Amino acid sequence: MSSGGTQSEPIRPTARRATPRRLLMCRPQHFDVTYSINPWMHPEKPVDRESALLQWERLREVYLSLGHTVEVIEPVPGLPDMVFAANGATVVDGKVLGARFRHVERTAEGPAYLAWFVQQGYREVLWPEFVNEGEGDYLPVGRRILAGTGFRTDQRSHYEAQEFFGLPVTSLTLVNPEHYHLDTALSVLSDTEVMYFPAAFTPGSRSVLETLFPDAILADAQDAAVFGLNAFSDGLNVVLPQAAAGLIEQLRERGFNPVGVDTTELLKAGGAAKCCTLELRPEPRG
Ligand code: ARG
Repeated sequence: MSSGGTQSEPIRPTARRATPRRLLMCRPQHFDVTYSINPWMHPEKPVDRESALLQWERLREVYLSLGHTVEVIEPVPGLPDMVFAANGATVVDGKVLGARFRHVERTAEGPAYLAWFVQQGYREVLWPEFVNEGEGDYLPVGRRILAGTGFRTDQRSHYEAQEFFGLPVTSLTLVNPEHYHLDTALSVLSDTEVMYFPAAFTPGSRSVLETLFPDAILADAQDAAVFGLNAFSDGLNVVLPQAAAGLIEQLRERGFNPVGVDTTELLKAGGAAKCCTLELRPEPRG
């Protein structure tokens, strides 16, 4: 803003503003790696639940300190992956598309999350026909939804989501098993900006991303390998794994405020910051 002097300040194209969000998280009380449904999971390697709990608490505190509201769902014994709340549903405009998991080990999480939404009084709730792993594969950017497929979410679910939300859904196909969910390969930074790891996508999907987001931040293999793209953004603050040094620098250059967190224990199950976070997007104000 100009203070009225003769020299007005140039408008910084990078001026950014955070908007407070409502988030749902699930404490990793029963966290463990007892099965393997992605290449990160090695049941023979020990898991330190205490350290997972500390990392999760810290993440929650970071969100609270940034002014966000965090709701917590009761963890269910026997569902060690339930900590990854992002997979529990997709919530856009106050409408809830339930999750239907690909693997039997996680099947019971779908109804557990859906019950929470019903209890909270959400009225537009859909139990889906097709497999979809919630915000793991559905990432809203402004009034469009980017949708992953290839490993978990059935492509037929993309059409189901488009009809349910009434928003354009853009299918993107993942090819790298280490980036089995869209939110491990792409992160939404604002209503118009994303960052992603090109090698995680088919050539066709890469070209779609280039067309939609010509100025996107691109992650290198090193940052992708520490799950740097598993990030949550409120438009200004970007919470992401602290090891993603290259992304942190690029985000700073673009006027974002990167906030690094340690999620290395949770990474033993193939998840990080964003996986632990489900955004509860309210009805748009008319
Ligand atoms: N072990 C979980 C799975 O493979 C990790 C889920 C991570 N969540 C995410 N949103 N990417 O399903």
